[in-house]
Amino acid sequence: MSHKFDQPADINPLDQEKVLTRPHVRKEGPLKVTGQATYAYEYQEPENPAYGYMVGAGVARGRVKSVDVSAAEALPGVLLVLTHENMPAQGKSDTPVPQEDDATPQMPDDQVDYYHQAVAFVVAETYEQARAAAAAIVIEYDDQTGEGDYSLAEVMEDADKAGSDEESKDQKIGDFAAAFKRADVQLDVTYTTPYQSQSPMEPHASIAEWDGDQLTLYTSHQMVHWVHRGLSMTLNVPQKNIRIVAQFIGGGFGSKLMFYGDAVLSAVAARQLGRPVKCALTRPQIYNHTSHRPSTIQRLRFGTDGEGRIYAIGHDAYSGNLPGGSAETAANQTKLLYAGEHRLVRQRLSELHLPPGGSMRAPGEAVGLLALECAMDELAEKLDLDPIELRVINDISYDPAKGPERPFSSRRLVDCLRRGAEEFGWDQREAQPGARRDGEWLIGLGVASAFRGNLLKPSGATLRLEKGGKITLETQMTDIGTGSYTILGQTAAEMLGVGLDDVEVRLGDSEFPKSSGSGGSWGANSAGMGVYYAAEELRKVIAKAAGYDPKKAVFKDGEVWEGEKCTRLGSVAANADEPLEATVNASVGDLNKQYAQASFGAHFCEVAVHHLTAEIRVRRLLSVAAAGRIFNPVTARSQCLGGMTMGVGAALMEEMHVDGNLGLFINHDLAEYHVPVHADIPDLDVIFLEELDDKSSPLKGKGVGELGICGVGAAVANAIYNAAGVRIRDYPLTVDKVL
Ligand code: MOS
Repeated sequence: MSHKFDQPADINPLDQEKVLTRPHVRKEGPLKVTGQATYAYEYQEPENPAYGYMVGAGVARGRVKSVDVSAAEALPGVLLVLTHENMPAQGKSDTPVPQEDDATPQMPDDQVDYYHQAVAFVVAETYEQARAAAAAIVIEYDDQTGEGDYSLAEVMEDADKAGSDEESKDQKIGDFAAAFKRADVQLDVTYTTPYQSQSPMEPHASIAEWDGDQLTLYTSHQMVHWVHRGLSMTLNVPQKNIRIVAQFIGGGFGSKLMFYGDAVLSAVAARQLGRPVKCALTRPQIYNHTSHRPSTIQRLRFGTDGEGRIYAIGHDAYSGNLPGGSAETAANQTKLLYAGEHRLVRQRLSELHLPPGGSMRAPGEAVGLLALECAMDELAEKLDLDPIELRVINDISYDPAKGPERPFSSRRLVDCLRRGAEEFGWDQREAQPGARRDGEWLIGLGVASAFRGNLLKPSGATLRLEKGGKITLETQMTDIGTGSYTILGQTAAEMLGVGLDDVEVRLGDSEFPKSSGSGGSWGANSAGMGVYYAAEELRKVIAKAAGYDPKKAVFKDGEVWEGEKCTRLGSVAANADEPLEATVNASVGDLNKQYAQASFGAHFCEVAVHHLTAEIRVRRLLSVAAAGRIFNPVTARSQCLGGMTMGVGAALMEEMHVDGNLGLFINHDLAEYHVPVHADIPDLDVIFLEELDDKSSPLKGKGVGELGICGVGAAVANAIYNAAGVRIRDYPLTVDKVL
């Protein structure tokens, strides 16, 4: 059965908020902390697995001239060595950058497009044997590394001339150039953001097992239907012959939206060997073989009147990728966040020969706001305005491209700023940088707006009333550590009038109805929509089975009621001849076109900068967020805290360094790619403002998973400026730059 969300529901059982919106801890938490949650590499069902070890290319560009596997094959325990010379035919792709709707072949030919692209795969009885044999493979390259481009600063100039696909997405309103020129106050600044790695704790890992022509792939992935379809296209195997299992995922942050060598090569090897094969990427391989967040160069221009009203706003965002890859959409939020009659917002893409760029938590906004929100701080100072007031003056209620015809479905940016100012003690801020001291430390406060576009995706679910009266929920949706198990259970429980413990939630299996998956902050609202409509249908099925009028049936306390009559759900199930279940595929109407939709927030930061060493200490962070209905304040808060922590990382330490001669990311492990540790993170706090958005989904929520990272780094940077008077436009803000 299908349902489309194209108008708000009249009667919405979720509004009772008996289970949904309550602070439930994670349903699967005990499994995780006792080591019983099974991650991709840990499944014991595939018996007698062999171990695969991927070999990544040692050059950034070129061809494999020769590959000698004879020494490797002669080593103990070695079962198979795959190279481009003996790989079976695979589906083709036009680009080395993995795409959600295309094949992702591994080693289809001798061409090398990036460092650590797969060039061989060794399978042996043990992991150590496979790794040892991998080291014995001798590869000669026709090395064209020197002919590649590895510097965005050097290639960005060409992007303007090229006239790319990106042009069609430009926002051009009014006459920006003329308006900017005649502005009373102008600001023209350029910011840069570095390459970042998602660095999930759990590596990309897969176990492939064939039973005849049926493949089961246990894998660590955010989007079951993408890998399901993509693998089918890659292996030339019908989708119905492939089962994907991804029950628990140890972090993705975008790096597990696509699939990589571990999945494809394990599947190919397992088929050839007639034996399960498992493979986990090594930590260094994660940094160069899988995706990363592209670096950006962003030019911001504002023209205002004397009072700070923006009438010209310009944002040019440059990024690079391999041929066929996409741009980092760093200027997207600038199309919608602030007022301005005359607008010029552009994103440009250049060809770079680094590993494939992809999505990392809040692609676009996460780095776009690092630039935009610092530039706003600079503009406020030029205008001699409080940074909050500048944002309030330039708040808008509709999409500037469409005018009042396309209002925001909900937008509480100003409320977030005001509430945060009050809670954080913004009145303690000195407008003059360097004016506050605490012993040897300079103290500063900073603020930034948070914005993340809100998306809704098709999603399905099956709900079943079991004989004992419990509810089973099944969907392909994944839980990447975000709380899907819990909030989807809460949604089903609320709809069916039972407790959270009465719902068994089963996720991450392609046998279940197709789901939105976990990406782009759309997961909770979208997968929840599938559950909502499946529950609507199951309510009808149960009411009928109980002999009640579905239109009058009320579900509460584990019972179904009509007027004065009632029956326990367990009795209805026990007396039913057929299984009481409903499967729904929910789709999306035009509300997203009719209304601009985004989640909003405000970040506040207090830093201390040492007056001699320039050591930076984040002392306090507060986020105030308005993201529609908050389905579970515990899991939503955790998402925000995680996002804020990553935002501190983006501001102060995270950076993959490019070796411009070798064409690779040189700091490819957690010892050298610095992320915040506990000692770097002070007290964090999150406040959610009340909001119900009935244009967003039947659940009336909006995306929150990525909102926490959006803008927080700019709040840190602005606080550093306020403390020390040093404006750094090149992230991350490391001590050497502050000194
Ligand atoms: Mo998100 S970067 O779409 O996992």
